[in-house]
Amino acid sequence: MISAVSPKAAARVCDAARSRGKTIGLVPTMGALHEGHIKLISECRKQCSFLVVSIFVNPAQFGPKEDFASYPRNLKKDLRICRENGVDMVFTPSVKDMYPPDFETFIELEKLPGHLCGLKRPGHFRGVATVVLKLFNIINPDMAVFGKKDYQQLTVIKKMARDLNLRLRIKGVETVRTGSGLAVSSRNRYLSADELRRAALLRKSLEEGRLMASRGAAAADIKKRIREMLMPAGGKIDYVYVCDRESLEDIKEVKGKALIALAVKICPARLIDNIEIQGPARSASKK
Ligand code: PAF
Repeated sequence: MISAVSPKAAARVCDAARSRGKTIGLVPTMGALHEGHIKLISECRKQCSFLVVSIFVNPAQFGPKEDFASYPRNLKKDLRICRENGVDMVFTPSVKDMYPPDFETFIELEKLPGHLCGLKRPGHFRGVATVVLKLFNIINPDMAVFGKKDYQQLTVIKKMARDLNLRLRIKGVETVRTGSGLAVSSRNRYLSADELRRAALLRKSLEEGRLMASRGAAAADIKKRIREMLMPAGGKIDYVYVCDRESLEDIKEVKGKALIALAVKICPARLIDNIEIQGPARSASKK
């Protein structure tokens, strides 16, 4: 496995791989790799012959009061996981290389960050879009994969790629869950055994929401029921949304396919999850 630290070295290795006819796949990560990342790696592996994992805790996507300093970092373990999972190159740039002191160009989407997590984390998606575009420009991948747990992030990146005519495929990969249904996340390690048990209510409430939607319940009733079900989790609910899958705009009725997304603070972690839903099958029109 090749290890590249500088953007120039990473670009050189990828250019050489491309000239040997390789198809390049990129899995962008912030490290602290877990089962969810391993699934991203294996999905990308299936379709690419040169697999790159980037590990970079991106300061531009953390708010001033967020956990940038304490975000879990374990490069040695991450490198082992990459090696064991057939990664061809690991890219671990420094903050100085990604954001030199005179850095001043950012990518900002106008509407998508005005929903869900974007409302609670101003500037977050500006930081995500900027670093992801930088990674795309350095690696020049044919394909990049992102987890569906961060549904808004995936939506933002797909939209950026479309708006800016980026020439790569963005693929969303299903969320990996623990036995209790909790979405696997680097931040789960902040939780105690009791908090982890309570966090399982996130998935249960989303499943109930999906069932209600399939039976024709209004969005307001779905959100009310989910909030009730989340009460015993003892956390602070940041949001529960029933929304369009692409624009992420709030909807009142679930007619076709839609999304339920939620964020709950179960101290000290802020957990997010979502579920794709479908309104009731349309009955044949009466004559
Ligand atoms: O999902 C993440 O780990 C990060 O937001 C990403 C996409 C690597 C950008 O820093």
